[in-house]
Amino acid sequence: MKKSIFIITIIIIFLSLPTPSLSQHCNKDDENTLFQIKKSLNNPYHLASWQNTSDCCSWYCLKCHKTTGRIIELTIFSGNISAQIPPEIGNLPYLQTLLFRKLTNLTGQIPSTITKLTHLTSLTLSWTNLSGPIPSFISKLTNLNYLDLSFNNLSGQIPPELAKLPKLGELDLSRNKLTGNIPNSFGTFSGNLKTLYLSHNQLTGNVPKSLAFLKCTTIDFSRNRLTGDLSMFFGRNKTIEMGYFAKNIFSFNLSKVVFPARFNYLDLNHNKVYGSLPVSLTGLSLQFLDVSYNSLCGKIPQGGKLQKFEKTSYLHNRCLCGSPLPPCS
Ligand SMILES: *[C@@H]1O[C@H](CO)[C@@H](O)[C@H](O)[C@H]1NC(C)=O
Ligand SMILES: *[C@@H]1O[C@H](CO)[C@@H](O)[C@H](O)[C@H]1NC(C)=O
Ligand SMILES: *[C@@H]1O[C@H](CO)[C@@H](O)[C@H](O)[C@H]1NC(C)=O
Ligand SMILES: *[C@@H]1O[C@H](CO)[C@@H](O)[C@H](O)[C@H]1NC(C)=O
Ligand SMILES: *[C@@H]1O[C@H](CO)[C@@H](O)[C@H](O)[C@H]1NC(C)=O
Ligand SMILES: *[C@@H]1O[C@H](CO)[C@@H](O)[C@H](O)[C@H]1NC(C)=O
Ligand SMILES: *[C@@H]1O[C@H](CO)[C@@H](O)[C@H](O)[C@H]1NC(C)=O
Repeated sequence: MKKSIFIITIIIIFLSLPTPSLSQHCNKDDENTLFQIKKSLNNPYHLASWQNTSDCCSWYCLKCHKTTGRIIELTIFSGNISAQIPPEIGNLPYLQTLLFRKLTNLTGQIPSTITKLTHLTSLTLSWTNLSGPIPSFISKLTNLNYLDLSFNNLSGQIPPELAKLPKLGELDLSRNKLTGNIPNSFGTFSGNLKTLYLSHNQLTGNVPKSLAFLKCTTIDFSRNRLTGDLSMFFGRNKTIEMGYFAKNIFSFNLSKVVFPARFNYLDLNHNKVYGSLPVSLTGLSLQFLDVSYNSLCGKIPQGGKLQKFEKTSYLHNRCLCGSPLPPCS
């Protein structure tokens, strides 16, 4: 016994030793590209460690592949960078993760050279000042499982081609200036898509019926100008667990909605939803409910979590009554 513990300890010590720097030699082409990127970003203070006196695998904001020394991650989280996204970014062909975040002086459009990054699995361009459209060429990055373009100044319509991303698990386009409809094609997203955030835009029209085919667990459409029905997301066998639909113009009969068993978060405030609260709500482990500012009527079903929420979750409807609101007359 003692001996095997000794051997295991040796193995653990061995595994926790830093990998020899030899195996991490930065690839020369990547290094040249990084120098070009640094120059295009106007030599920001943030990238001061990018100097040819050290191996580029040791520079800040980067990660190299352990054996090949190719750059696989470029992540700039914040900083004073006044520039556009350098087109040279497309010349880091082994990049898997690209992130520019909290760079309010990063302006301009998303460059088409990113389509060369075919290994990209995660793309985050968020809290920057990017403008122009969301380019349809992003759909060429078929290995993406995470796409976050939130908190920018992107405008125009959502390109229907995004639904061609077969591995996409999370799509966040919230907090932009997007207009037009939610594309019909979004119903053809693969079952991998679990989270869809489109909030804080200027989207209009009805939610396409095709979205009934989505297998999402979280959907955030709040603060747009969307109309019509949300019934495509509901039904006993549906996957939705959290629905953020506040501050739109949704209008449908809530009495008829059947919530799936794992559903636990419903924000419908400031819409035009009518009918009454279905009794089945009392059977859910709700962690959040807000149906205020709608046109609901009738008695709030008693039981489950429904009386655990404040009055404010129910106020400003046509004629809701019963605890936590005053009794029905
Ligand atoms: C390092 O960079 C400096 C300035 O850009 C250049 O003059 C020098 O030749 C480079 N050295 C190597 C070894 O590449
Ligand atoms: C953005 O650029 C402006 C003008 O050059 C500058 O005043 C400001 O400090 C910059 N902001 C950040 C966060 O870098
Ligand atoms: C950002 O950089 C610009 C120009 O280099 C400079 O004028 C400004 O003071 C900097 N802002 C911050 C917040 O560091
Ligand atoms: C974003 O860019 C626009 C124009 O490109 C500019 O007017 C605005 O001041 C920028 N906003 C920030 C927060 O840098
Ligand atoms: C978006 O652009 C407008 C005008 O071009 C600018 O006033 C605003 O600050 C920008 N928003 C962000 C988040 O940079
Ligand atoms: C739910 O799924 C079960 C099994 O897949 C199926 O038999 C049933 O008809 C479905 N119910 C509804 C309401 O779609
Ligand atoms: C909503 O649906 C319920 C159940 O089908 C029905 O009884 C009720 O009249 C409907 N309410 C409105 C306002 O259409």
